[in-house]
Amino acid sequence: MHNVTMIAGDGIGPEISEAVAKIIEAAGVKIKWEKVEAGAGVMDKYGTPLPEKVFESIRKNKVALKGPITTPVGSGFRSVNVAIRKELNLYANVRPLKVHAKNFAKDENIDMVVFRENTEGLYVGIEHYVGDEAAESIKIITRRASRKITERAFEYAVREDRKKVTAVHKANILKFSDGLFLEEARKVAEKYQKTNPEIKFDDKIVDNMCMQMVQYPEQYDVLVMPNLYGDIVSDLGAGLIGGLGLAPGMNLGDEIAVFEAVHGSAPDIAGQNKANPIALLFSSVLMLRHLGETEAADRIENAAALVLNKGEVLTEDLGGSASTDQITEAIISEL
Ligand code: NAI
Ligand code: MG
Repeated sequence: MHNVTMIAGDGIGPEISEAVAKIIEAAGVKIKWEKVEAGAGVMDKYGTPLPEKVFESIRKNKVALKGPITTPVGSGFRSVNVAIRKELNLYANVRPLKVHAKNFAKDENIDMVVFRENTEGLYVGIEHYVGDEAAESIKIITRRASRKITERAFEYAVREDRKKVTAVHKANILKFSDGLFLEEARKVAEKYQKTNPEIKFDDKIVDNMCMQMVQYPEQYDVLVMPNLYGDIVSDLGAGLIGGLGLAPGMNLGDEIAVFEAVHGSAPDIAGQNKANPIALLFSSVLMLRHLGETEAADRIENAAALVLNKGEVLTEDLGGSASTDQITEAIISEL
């Protein structure tokens, strides 16, 4: 029995979280979910979208599955999601871009993993107006965070037999901040060249990287980059493998791991039984691997891949007309 915190979130969060819990149960994995509330819907009840209980539960269980959260205006938070990552020091946002069904992918050979620095960069939230006519946002890059995220990327590359790590930056223009990131990435790479010379290292300027990802995605493997680039590049990557409905992610600290899809709360389709649960389901597959439930993880991943490849029961984002419930049932019956 695993104790896992569940934050269903808001928007499509509750629908897809319920679907995922059902599939995990059908796969025979015993999880005791500790459900905690966060998001726009709990403002009235707690006076905050992020009650302390959320942190207590995650700190205790060390593992959480999280639905998307909308940050209500006037809640005192710039972003509830960013606040969770910062408070728990979940410094690595990892987003695998794997093709499960080639009919939805731009190129069936895509197999990349984006490592996004998750605690600093332009997301530190230090912004102000300068008079009426200008505004400034501060971007913070530290050696420590740059080193930690690159080390995590290399560790992963070693463990998963990856061939190459690419550092993504704009150091040609942001010579100090991205320059420092790149310097630390190179130091980490040098260290790994000694123990794991089979893993290549290179770096790419972020705009060029975007073009390369679209034109030659098969040439890229593990990508590591500062926060904002990771946000943008991982959505681009999601587009290459079939859209936000298929793109999973995880936020990792040294001890705590929070698993969540790349997408947001999709208010345009919330509460309509239309959301694609697969991005959160694939996030839960990453979670099951983290918990050592490898066999169940494989079965769930294969069942979802079968449904995608058959193409008979698909949600609207994938060109079908099935409901969340229908695709959930279809995945369960493939289990
Ligand atoms: P979004 O990802 O919620 O939606 C973008 C588009 O993709 C929409 O058309 C939506 O319907 C569609 N979509 C997203 N997920 C889908 C799914 N599972 N199935 C089918 N269609 C799906 O991005 P948007 O609209 O920019 O943000 C909405 C809210 O979500 C905002 O308040 C934002 O701050 C929040 N957000 C939260 C995140 C999180 O909790 N980690 C991440 C990104 C955004
Ligand atoms: Mg994003």
